[in-house]
Amino acid sequence: MNLKTIRDIDVKDKTVLVRVDYNVPIKNGEVESDLRISASLPTIQFLLDGGAKKVVLISHLGRPEGKENPEFSLKPAVECLRALLPGPEIGFFEIKKGQHLVDLSNCRVALLENLRFDPREEANDAEFAKEIIDFTGAELFVQDGFAVVHRAHASTDAITKLLPSYAGLLLEKEINGLSKVIDNPERPLLMIIGGAKVEDKAPLIEKFVGLADQIAVGGKIAADGYTNSSDKIYVADDFDEDTAGAKLDVGPSSTIKIAEMIQGAKTVVWNGLLGKAEDAAYATSSTIVAELMGESADKTTVICGGDTTGFVEQMMLEHPQLKYSLVSTGGGAALEFLLGKDLPGLAGLK
Ligand code: 3PG
Repeated sequence: MNLKTIRDIDVKDKTVLVRVDYNVPIKNGEVESDLRISASLPTIQFLLDGGAKKVVLISHLGRPEGKENPEFSLKPAVECLRALLPGPEIGFFEIKKGQHLVDLSNCRVALLENLRFDPREEANDAEFAKEIIDFTGAELFVQDGFAVVHRAHASTDAITKLLPSYAGLLLEKEINGLSKVIDNPERPLLMIIGGAKVEDKAPLIEKFVGLADQIAVGGKIAADGYTNSSDKIYVADDFDEDTAGAKLDVGPSSTIKIAEMIQGAKTVVWNGLLGKAEDAAYATSSTIVAELMGESADKTTVICGGDTTGFVEQMMLEHPQLKYSLVSTGGGAALEFLLGKDLPGLAGLK
């Protein structure tokens, strides 16, 4: 895929607006997995080294439904960024209506508050995109939030019609890595799909029948009773439950079945945890899948999705022998890219 990238331009003395995806898990006001934040550093550093005047980061966090909600504030993300990038002064700003230009004089890097606090972000509203530009004085736009390029929002789509737009280094790396999976993969190709975003994932499962030789479904989708199993689609059917009967992890016999499927595959793509893995009592199936994939040097192994990659990154810290071909920051975006869909956030970068 031919994208215009930041390697193609001179950013010296320019204010550059960078769409990152800092939609990271937060617990008790702290970032639980910094994978998406640390993955954005090469682009930020590249722009700073290239002499950019300011680097202004924009992102969403969660789904606050167009309303301000402190639970979804990006403040913990900026603290995490400051710890990971100790050099430049990093500001944090709320976008206020009627305020024309934010005072960026004291910082070279800035993060704006959650874009989804304004309903116009998800409505792909060009006025909102223009307000962001006016507010920051941005002269160039860089899309580096691979995980959000499947959304047609003001900060992924409308903005590319208002500013010269380029792909960042993370976006480029993700696209190149995932392209290798779809261009002539070694077969059999197994897709493992779990996670909690049932309404997003369920419609995608059958579409993967064309790409994958086998599909294993776990997580909340299976627990909620996804019924479209077939000779290609295996749906987990036993679960570990809590005392109230909630199905919180794929149970032993389904885990064994999925493990056998992994053993028989040559390419394995995993998106979505198989259980409520943040609770150690319900992390067994996800742990087994992560270990099996990470120990399979003879296979192409791809991990995608914020929670899944966060989980796997943690396991890699504890067990450095685990290795994967690609750990992607994208969830839904990675799935849609693998399906060959046109992603709205890429259209303006070609
Ligand atoms: C993700 O985590 O997949 C992205 O940040 C997109 O989030 P969304 O599904 O809420 O649009």
